[in-house]
Amino acid sequence: MHKDVSEILFSEQDLANRVREIGANITADYAEAAGETGIVVVSILRGGAVFACDLIRQIDLPLEVDFMAVSSYGNETKSSGVVRILKDLSTDIQGRHVIIAEDIIDSGLTLRYLMENLLSRKPASLTVAALLRKNTAVQADIDCRYVGFECPDEFIVGYGLDYAEHYRNLPYIGVLKPEIYQ
Ligand code: PRP
Ligand code: MN
Ligand code: MG
Repeated sequence: MHKDVSEILFSEQDLANRVREIGANITADYAEAAGETGIVVVSILRGGAVFACDLIRQIDLPLEVDFMAVSSYGNETKSSGVVRILKDLSTDIQGRHVIIAEDIIDSGLTLRYLMENLLSRKPASLTVAALLRKNTAVQADIDCRYVGFECPDEFIVGYGLDYAEHYRNLPYIGVLKPEIYQ
């Protein structure tokens, strides 16, 4: 275990198992909608990329993957509430069945912004797959069709999740020791 991590919440195996289940659910749910054109999986850089890249390989349907980069946290531990688009999609999603693949819903502000933004482009449908949903006192009301795990309100890193851009490469999700960010 990394020296800055106090506890592993979801092991590499836990993550692989759950991602496989979500992929199977999406495959079943979108079998008809996918048709020949396929669905569009939107990976939200940077945190959502690890989950998205594992997830698409567990979806047995024609699909396109595209990337959008947004940031609300910068190097802070709390959401600023202001979401900035750093890179937009290359795909025109009008009339397409779109799934947003995100690593975590914390305040929910990132996804609230993203859903509103993507809905304005008139997709045929829009759903969210979030690997983690944090149990916080206050969270925007996000309609999330696929949730990997509920997680405690602690500062967590790994499997795409960072603190100041570090730890994204850990193969598991763990709790960051408070002395690292205090
Ligand atoms: C993190 C995380 C989610 C978002 C969740 O991204 O990857 O996108 O915050 O928080 P929220 O529900 O409170 O909005 P961040 O802004 O840190 O950018 P990153 O993905 O590049 O790390
Ligand atoms: Mn993110
Ligand atoms: Mg981050």
